[in-house]
Amino acid sequence: MSESRLRLGIVGFGNMGRALALGVRQNEGLNSSFALGVYEKNPAAALPPDLVCAPDAAALAEASDLLLIAVKPYHVAPLLAEINSALRPDHLLLSIAAGVNLDFLRKHSRERCPVARIMPNTPALVGRGIFGLCFGPGVPPDRQEIVRRLLAALGMLIEVEESKMNALTALSGSGPGYVFHFLESLAEAGVSIGLDRASSSSIALELLRGCAEMAAQSSLHPAILREQVSSPAGTTIAGINHLDRQGARGLLVDAVRAACARGLEMEEEA
Ligand SMILES: NC(=O)c1ccc[n+]([C@@H]2O[C@H](COP(=O)([O-])OP(=O)(O)OC[C@H]3O[C@@H](n4cnc5c(N)ncnc54)[C@H](OP(=O)(O)O)[C@@H]3O)[C@@H](O)[C@H]2O)c1
Repeated sequence: MSESRLRLGIVGFGNMGRALALGVRQNEGLNSSFALGVYEKNPAAALPPDLVCAPDAAALAEASDLLLIAVKPYHVAPLLAEINSALRPDHLLLSIAAGVNLDFLRKHSRERCPVARIMPNTPALVGRGIFGLCFGPGVPPDRQEIVRRLLAALGMLIEVEESKMNALTALSGSGPGYVFHFLESLAEAGVSIGLDRASSSSIALELLRGCAEMAAQSSLHPAILREQVSSPAGTTIAGINHLDRQGARGLLVDAVRAACARGLEMEEEA
């Protein structure tokens, strides 16, 4: 292990902690820049054999330069109480907990080190995550660059003001939920009109993949791409008209707004 590697500690090896740790492991550049440490309190969580679990969270904090908190939002305050005597001014505390804001992190870490807030999403598991990022005060520029480099190598990085973090959480953090719901619904629709479930599921998946790739490669607005498949008096326009009459767009907008409102509520409850 090179001594020049920065020590990245991850507390919580659940869905996201695991995705981020494995993302770092699988990326040659990151793997040579970061020495990874983890602490997971649940003995049932299967760590890769070459990743040793620290004895406790405070020991991991002491042995880390960057400490990433990947536990559920309601576990953040007790965790910070447990580790805050181990935090030093040269630490950088990173949290991915939804609805846990920078003020909360600063207060519960007793302002012993600078903090930053990250909002990932689960496609990070396959190297296609979206990461919202905002820094609290006092994060040295070189540390900021390190965090940007880390996240940009794991997916798409979007730096936002903290006031936009809940909006970003509602769109990209919760986004996989909407997309998987849509995917599942399309597959059900195929079954409903007589396709077998396996074919219908494969078609729905490839449809989403193909359309996402086509939209990404095209310079055309999605509305134009949609018009191009809506011939006069054809089948597609009949389906689209139904979606419009039922207010499908409004429903989706309302779903994202509900998620955003819930994020604000969670911040107030914290
Ligand atoms: N999953 C997502 O889509 C997503 C997206 C964006 C952001 N996030 C955020 O990511 C964070 C983690 O979510 P997740 O889905 O990965 O949760 P998760 O699967 O429940 O993983 C959290 C892990 O941390 C463990 N843990 C709890 N307290 C701990 C402590 N004090 N020390 C060490 N380990 C501890 C938990 O053990 P126990 O099970 O025993 O409690 C669990 O194994 C959350 O704050 C969430 O808001 C998640």
